[in-house]
Amino acid sequence: MIEFSHVYKTYPGPVQALKNINLKIEKGEFVFLTGPSGAGKTTLFKVMSAYLKPSSGNIKVAGYDLNKIKSNEIPFFRRRIGVVYQDFKLLKDRTVYENISLPLEIRGDKNSYIYDKTNDMIEQVGLTHKKFMFPQQLSGGEQQRVAIARALVHQPGVLVADEPTGNLDPELSEEIMDLLDKVNAQGTTVFCATHDHDLVKRRSKKVLDINSGIIVEKKIG
Ligand SMILES: Nc1ncnc2c1ncn2[C@@H]1O[C@H](COP(=O)(O)OP(=O)(O)OP(=O)(O)O)[C@@H](O)[C@H]1O
Ligand SMILES: [Mg+2]
Repeated sequence: MIEFSHVYKTYPGPVQALKNINLKIEKGEFVFLTGPSGAGKTTLFKVMSAYLKPSSGNIKVAGYDLNKIKSNEIPFFRRRIGVVYQDFKLLKDRTVYENISLPLEIRGDKNSYIYDKTNDMIEQVGLTHKKFMFPQQLSGGEQQRVAIARALVHQPGVLVADEPTGNLDPELSEEIMDLLDKVNAQGTTVFCATHDHDLVKRRSKKVLDINSGIIVEKKIG
């Protein structure tokens, strides 16, 4: 389902952000990616969601070989995955409802389906009372929950979440992790970066630890 072989990414500088990454995540697995700031977590997620090209190596995700993917196939590839960005990337001029429904609008789903599914997701992340507010009217944690709902609304086979609990208090973090567990139980592969070692300890999942662009440890958390 997700496979990296000999993946390198070098930014101008040069900064070697990823060095010989080899990993395999099977369909339906839940895997944490831990590592200090600057270790390469976001870079790893960007190359696996086709936002950045690796400098070398091969990546396969959701049946797509990202080395061979054509630019006109990328929108179809993106429908197969859900991405929660570290900086949310919410549209400032759209409401909570409009941000979350966007992937379904783009896909051209029926209006009644969009309405029901979007409201269901909004309820699952506990934002029904903020449905018609704009991102700048929300707290950091609320914006984070909008980003999570938007990443899940189209029921992707793979969810990539970059620090999805980074701005949440412990209680809300647990709720969000429960939500990720629930989508995982329904069959979605979850790959989740986090700084929060206590959170990782409380959930027994596979953990990949990255440091200076190298996967240094693989363990069951
Ligand atoms: N566009 C860029 N140009 C040059 N260097 C970059 C760029 N983006 C990231 N880097 C560098 O690549 C390395 C990995 O960055 P990355 O954002 O992947 O780390 P991270 O593990 O996500 O960190 P954090 O936990 O702080 O989010 C860092 O040294 C960073 O400074
Ligand atoms: Mg990051």
